[in-house]
Amino acid sequence: MKKFRAGVVGTGFIGVAHIEALRRMGNVDVVALADTSGADQKAEALCVPKGYASYKDMIDSENLDAIHICTPNSTHCDIALYAIEKGVAVICEKPMATSAEQAKKMADLAKEKGVVNAINFNLRFNPLPYQLKQMVKSGDLGEIFTVHGSYLQDWLYYDTDYSWRLEPELSGESRAFADIGSHWIDMVESVTGLKAVAVMADFATFHKTRKKPLKPIATYSGMALKPEDYAEVPITTEDYCTVMFKFDNGARGTVVVSQVYAGRKNQMIVSVGGSKCAAHWDSENGNELWIGRRDGYNQVAVKDPSVLYGETGKVISYPGGHVEGFPDTIKQNFISIYRAIGEHDTSKGDFATFEDGLREMLLCDKIVESAKKQAWVEI
Ligand SMILES: NC(=O)c1ccc[n+]([C@@H]2O[C@H](COP(=O)([O-])OP(=O)(O)OC[C@H]3O[C@@H](n4cnc5c(N)ncnc54)[C@H](O)[C@@H]3O)[C@@H](O)[C@H]2O)c1
Repeated sequence: MKKFRAGVVGTGFIGVAHIEALRRMGNVDVVALADTSGADQKAEALCVPKGYASYKDMIDSENLDAIHICTPNSTHCDIALYAIEKGVAVICEKPMATSAEQAKKMADLAKEKGVVNAINFNLRFNPLPYQLKQMVKSGDLGEIFTVHGSYLQDWLYYDTDYSWRLEPELSGESRAFADIGSHWIDMVESVTGLKAVAVMADFATFHKTRKKPLKPIATYSGMALKPEDYAEVPITTEDYCTVMFKFDNGARGTVVVSQVYAGRKNQMIVSVGGSKCAAHWDSENGNELWIGRRDGYNQVAVKDPSVLYGETGKVISYPGGHVEGFPDTIKQNFISIYRAIGEHDTSKGDFATFEDGLREMLLCDKIVESAKKQAWVEI
């Protein structure tokens, strides 16, 4: 079996998760990492053979099959363009960039150069949403009437919580939607096969200012700041948003996204109402899928490949009763992506491509526009 050579750019929170998932696959060697902060120490700590301060040096020196872009959003475009020019496959974190223009450049160049490209919309590889996708395809839900849900976190609950994600020049003009709402709409469009055709959004920023630490801190690290440790800075991106959707079959949708909802650490809910039954998935109970019926018993489908659709079994590694979650979704996404890299064909597999990432960026731009206009905006 061919072994692939991968390099990871950015080894903060998610870069380390990429390395772990790649190692679990067995057919990918993480031969190098690049990070602008402490590359050598990070390589040593993660047992990666070589650390580079510059991603360009890493790409030029390591004869890579693929790079993984796990850096702040504003850097994705330049890194991806450089790798694509060198013929290296790119797995980029979401959101794809900070604007649809950047995302289009990336998608166009990848297409022109014929380089395999992917976005880590890993959550669509949760087994039960994947089962829901097969159920929709098989007609089990009938016609879809409604899709609703939420994505809630509390890691930015206090005004002392700070991250590069609060700075639009690093993160983009939208924060809560771009950061986590993007996962929700990607999953909804992937699972239902529907496309949003219009959006109506309402944004709110509850902490108008936040205390920015005067020294760097890692994502999700938690902290206790003293007055001399921070500067009070204005915040322009949303802590919260509600978005209503109209879909191409006439279905309606709503999502509530918040990064300031106490007690919900990282909860995603997707509920689909169809003409034959409804289905509800909650990531906090992610190995189950509730199915609701008007004329019969409601059911709970559990993550057991022996009773789910055969297609769903392909994204499950363990038998029933053995919980699978966030790290497994990344592994399943990468299995699908590296299969495409091996076959030099992005059209194979269920992973999100740069075209999907670009679509999500366009949606995000329309959502920001709608929030500003306080009006429906067509996609
Ligand atoms: N798919 C998911 O579920 C998921 C989860 C978390 C984050 N993300 C995405 O991953 C990306 C990174 O987020 P994070 O939470 O890991 O951030 P982080 O701040 O924890 O880590 C970012 C790392 O990138 C490094 N870095 C910054 N600029 C760099 C550059 N130009 N070259 C090389 N290294 C650089 C930093 O030193 C740091 O180590 C973001 O786009 C984010 O939206 C996705």
